[in-house]
Amino acid sequence: MTGGMRRGLTSYGDAQFSLFLRKAFIKAMGYSDDALERPIVGITNTYSEFNPCHATVPQLIAAVKRGVMLAGGLPMEFPTISIHESFAYPTSMYLRNLMALDTEEMIRAQPVDAVVLIGGCDKTIPAQLMAAASANVPSIVLPTGPMLTRTHRGERLGACTDCRRYWAKFRAGEIDQHEIDAVNARLAPTAGTCMVMGTASTIACMTEAMGMSLPGAATIPAVHAERLRLAEASGARAVGLAQSGPRPDAVMSPKAFTNALTVLQAIGGSTNALIHVTAIAARRGVRIDLDSFDALGRKVPVLVDLKPSGQHYMEHLHDAGGLNAVLRELRSLLHLDVPTVSGQTLEEVIAASEINPIQQVVRSIGNPIFPSGGIAVLRGNLAPGGAVIKHSSATASLLNHTGRAVVFDSLDDLAARIDAPDLDVTADDVLVLRNAGPRGAPGMPEAGYLPIPKKLAQQGVKDMVRISDARMSGTAFGTIVLHVTPESAIGGPLALLQTGDRIRLDVDSRLLELGVSPDELERRRAQWKAPALDAGASGYRRLYLEHVLQADAGCDFDFMVEAALRDVAPVAMG
Ligand code: FES
Repeated sequence: MTGGMRRGLTSYGDAQFSLFLRKAFIKAMGYSDDALERPIVGITNTYSEFNPCHATVPQLIAAVKRGVMLAGGLPMEFPTISIHESFAYPTSMYLRNLMALDTEEMIRAQPVDAVVLIGGCDKTIPAQLMAAASANVPSIVLPTGPMLTRTHRGERLGACTDCRRYWAKFRAGEIDQHEIDAVNARLAPTAGTCMVMGTASTIACMTEAMGMSLPGAATIPAVHAERLRLAEASGARAVGLAQSGPRPDAVMSPKAFTNALTVLQAIGGSTNALIHVTAIAARRGVRIDLDSFDALGRKVPVLVDLKPSGQHYMEHLHDAGGLNAVLRELRSLLHLDVPTVSGQTLEEVIAASEINPIQQVVRSIGNPIFPSGGIAVLRGNLAPGGAVIKHSSATASLLNHTGRAVVFDSLDDLAARIDAPDLDVTADDVLVLRNAGPRGAPGMPEAGYLPIPKKLAQQGVKDMVRISDARMSGTAFGTIVLHVTPESAIGGPLALLQTGDRIRLDVDSRLLELGVSPDELERRRAQWKAPALDAGASGYRRLYLEHVLQADAGCDFDFMVEAALRDVAPVAMG
């Protein structure tokens, strides 16, 4: 036997001594020789008191361990970084690559024959999948699962689409302090991830579609007993993966990534997920191309009626049959012959799933929520490397709009001026935020949902065209152009924009154009001074600033993907 305790021995120049020493130490934990001869299933522990989305991780770990032991394996839990959206300074995106490095190296360093990756909050599963793709040890993802909902004055609330909606009402003076406090206490009523189709739910759905988690993993509510049974089954299945695979390189194939991106379009998923999947795929040497993703969106309609594109929540999608109800409807657009960690092909998984004939959450292809996919890719002289818009949750009348730019130079500038009574702005203008990209902020904050200027909000303005090199929470909504690439901090055209310039957004034509002549742009470029990007940084911050890639390349570190992508053509989708 070469696996288990014999895997990856610490190097002393005498392998037998290394094993002897390892066993001597691990026996201090009370393990028997019988236990130490079993296949070892590592279980990531991402519990943190700063991470309510992961509050149930201890119970999930206990259930995974039960499954591993019932299947004859030895479960070994180990800690990794945990990232929560609201407790990650400067941003969770800044830390995603650190979590990926941490998880990958811990999988490599420790003698695990397979690993159960328990994640949930937005950046955690992407980081874990990046790690699994690089380490290529048999892996199965167990999401923590979505929160349940609550109501406020008879209206159902969801984190965090309704966080933004109620905050906008408060800013506009429509509700008072007392009411916003009451809402604050009701938005996140249970443990688990945000229960709308935000980034966490989107990634969980794409992971299941990709074949990296068991059926039902994306939608079972975090606090349902069914999720503990899923955890037990994931543990048992991990023992099977340890013995006979498939490994991540067999599951995370170009076809599987295309399936995941098809699902992203069909669920009206988060724009963030596109960045994450691009990064995960690159780790497997698969290049995701923005234009073919956009072409995919022209033939895949939004089928899932969930906030922020629709009206329901994740618990309703689960009752409707979960992701399998979506996959069944998308059958003609998916690659069905791909393997999954369940041991079945995707076709077999769909065939075995339960059908709910009276559900109203997943529409048919002939009767979609939105006629095309949720996300469109824009190009033009303002975004030569691309930009994205979630047009399924935008205002239809603004999708073809020309307006005057009102430019904010940074997050600080935005905070200082957006509510100023003398801000020169009208509802027809285009709000622009720059220096909020992967390097500029740094960490590409979810600041793309620029607030409506207070004086306009008080006049009843609910949406405006907003453009930035930042990201946006998957739970947000509005006519918002994101991920403008290249970002302004490295000299992208956004850096040359001036208040008063005309900007044309034409989503049908996929255009984002700046109405300024090339000569004038060249004149401005000659005068542009690059912002100082923390030249004296050290440690992780320096690593990040020197190596982070742009949004169209997934914001991974260049040294993680350059070799894998050398001479690789973009994946053909469809
Ligand atoms: Fe963790 Fe929304 S804050 S999933």
